[in-house]
Amino acid sequence: MISFEGRVLLMSGAAGGIGLATARVFAGAGASLALGDLDERRLAEMTAALNLPADRLLLARHDVTDPESSRDLVRQAQEKFGGIDIVVPNAGFYPTDPFESMSVTSWSRTLAVNLDGVFHLCQAALPALRPDAALVLVASMAAHYGSPAHAHYAAAKGGVLSLAKSLAKELAPGVRVNAVSPGLIDTPMVQPLMQARGPELLNATPLRRLGAPEEVANCIAFLASPLSSYVTGATLHVNGGLYIA
Ligand SMILES: NC(=O)c1ccc[n+]([C@@H]2O[C@H](COP(=O)([O-])OP(=O)(O)OC[C@H]3O[C@@H](n4cnc5c(N)ncnc54)[C@H](O)[C@@H]3O)[C@@H](O)[C@H]2O)c1
Repeated sequence: MISFEGRVLLMSGAAGGIGLATARVFAGAGASLALGDLDERRLAEMTAALNLPADRLLLARHDVTDPESSRDLVRQAQEKFGGIDIVVPNAGFYPTDPFESMSVTSWSRTLAVNLDGVFHLCQAALPALRPDAALVLVASMAAHYGSPAHAHYAAAKGGVLSLAKSLAKELAPGVRVNAVSPGLIDTPMVQPLMQARGPELLNATPLRRLGAPEEVANCIAFLASPLSSYVTGATLHVNGGLYIA
């Protein structure tokens, strides 16, 4: 049983499928939560969804593409909780875009959310980190496997994996840095892909189903917890066997 009593989680993209599931897992294990998302409406719904005492929950509009927005979220978290123990830069954006017609704007926006956003939040959080901190970056099977019509997203997630390995070396021994690489997880993000190629992809998945957001959340919790105290620079694949590294 993992306990995050007295620990503070800072997470972006918290109002999405994996974000909400992760918030629930950490809240259930006793953590206080500093949560940001661009989608203010769904963020506001998290108060009821999490049902936490006000002194354990901070919700803030946050745009990962803006470094000042990340600094502001960290400032609020530090003021409210006194520091940060776990950072999960989880915000993601997965547009479908054949490479031949991909615009520079689409390429830049996709990199800005999925890669630059991770840089901004992790760098902003550094001064607020307390001893035995853990960063858990959210990559994707696309980083290992490629993703047709999502070359920008796959390239960004490949960058996330390299960033995790570099930070694992640079921030040791005080901070552990690991990544999860989800495969097909049942959230709004994956619906267009499932509509286009669902049966083919499920047939190729040894466990023959989509993953649940909670199954990614549990892996994030493991990598953030003392159960993984000798693990850093690692990538945990959460994909039902669709890609076996
Ligand atoms: N669902 C999957 O199959 C899958 C697979 C591999 C990786 N992932 C990764 O998991 C993470 C969570 O994805 P999800 O499936 O929960 O998707 P989701 O679309 O449900 O959630 C993504 C969240 O990110 C937020 N967001 C988007 N742009 C933002 C920005 N500029 N600033 C702040 N927040 C922003 C959205 O508002 C949304 O709440 C992402 O990094 C995604 O790339 C998901």
